[in-house]
Amino acid sequence: MAPSLLAADFSDLKKAVGLAEAGGAHWLHLDVMDGHFVPNITFGPLVVEAVRRLTDMPLDVHLMIAPPEPYLEAFARAGADRLTVHVEATAHLHRALQTIGDLGVKAGVALNPATPWEQAAWVLHQVDLVLVMTVNPGFGGQAFLPEVLPKVEALREYVTARGLDVHIQVDGGIDGETAPLAVNAGADVLVAGSAVYGAEDPASVMAQLARLRRPG
Ligand code: DX5
Ligand code: ZN
Repeated sequence: MAPSLLAADFSDLKKAVGLAEAGGAHWLHLDVMDGHFVPNITFGPLVVEAVRRLTDMPLDVHLMIAPPEPYLEAFARAGADRLTVHVEATAHLHRALQTIGDLGVKAGVALNPATPWEQAAWVLHQVDLVLVMTVNPGFGGQAFLPEVLPKVEALREYVTARGLDVHIQVDGGIDGETAPLAVNAGADVLVAGSAVYGAEDPASVMAQLARLRRPG
């Protein structure tokens, strides 16, 4: 369970981080957007560093920036535990992931809804997470795209068949109704922004999502 700070109140980051901690969140998901790769701008290393000072929770940094390479070191220095880059954001994905590894942080690879999962197959040895976008990246509060579920299933099958230790993360439109679909398809890390921070009781939503398990 990884709540996304994007839907939180940025005038009180301390409270937002505290809510995630109190709700038993495993990771904190931070959405970095550049107004170029995605049509929205959020924040950079400065805010990641500020959040770092507020918590020991693993910081799961989702880079929606193109190209990501010039900023990897700054985000690693800011205290990211994982840097996830989009397949679509760089011509040299393998090199970008290598750089992340060299910086001593975990690496993830993200796929937009229309990007085939096979693109991640060639870098699975370099990552510990594949992020399957379940909305088009750029904004919180969008509707979950169920047509992405077969991609989660195919990836899970591939990863299991090879005995790989790789998380499959879903991000976008995840709530109490869509999360079970994603988990059944094979996702094991759920990112949720508005479902958590828009709720009256964020802790109970986080607990509900964290309890989900694949049948069997
Ligand atoms: C969207 C971001 C998501 C976003 C999810 O581009 O990558 O992490 O915060 O927000 P919800 O859960 O509201 O769809
Ligand atoms: Zn995200």
